[in-house]
Amino acid sequence: MATRTQNGTSNRSSSNPSRKSSGGSRSAFSWSEGAGPIIAAAIGGAAIGFAANYGRKALIQGMEASIGDWDEILTAEHREALALFDRLLETDEGQTFKRKMLFMKLCHALDKHSHAEEMVVYPALRGDDNVADADHLESEHGYIKTFIFELDEMGPDSPDWLQKIRDFRELVAEHAKMEEDEVFPKFKKDMTADENAHITSLVNRDGFWMA
Ligand SMILES: [Fe+2]
Ligand SMILES: [Fe+2]
Repeated sequence: MATRTQNGTSNRSSSNPSRKSSGGSRSAFSWSEGAGPIIAAAIGGAAIGFAANYGRKALIQGMEASIGDWDEILTAEHREALALFDRLLETDEGQTFKRKMLFMKLCHALDKHSHAEEMVVYPALRGDDNVADADHLESEHGYIKTFIFELDEMGPDSPDWLQKIRDFRELVAEHAKMEEDEVFPKFKKDMTADENAHITSLVNRDGFWMA
């Protein structure tokens, strides 16, 4: 048991030979003996984690890249988001956990999708003299974020939550329809095959980092 000296300090350390002079010159940040394998394991673990995450991203975006051109990739993402909306609309107030999980997945899907459009497609559209379309679509992305914010504030157990999801789906469906039926086909037609391939590679690269 430790005792206290007159100046109030503990004599616990002096009674423990292993903590005497051999450790006295060490800084508080010195690694103890035997820490090497632990550090190596930590670095190894981080490397495995990084490789696993890199592999996951490569797998996800590799699957999307196999879909085809940039417009086909973005159209497939529209379908995926709308399917998540439909699964949300099938839930009831008692399924708050399921709602939370599906909503989280939907937010991630919309975030990844809108990032590629805002960082690649819309800027390229403006360069192709389609400023009005690009500005209109980008402003709608702002309202998509507003829906996400309001739904998050409302909470999945709110009686109004499902109606809000229904209104949100309507906005996303109209937005996607305008892109698929009007904006994307015109833009694709305006570009050469090489230019289209370039936009596809940029969309894939953006998707990889956001996956
Ligand atoms: Fe969009
Ligand atoms: Fe889109």
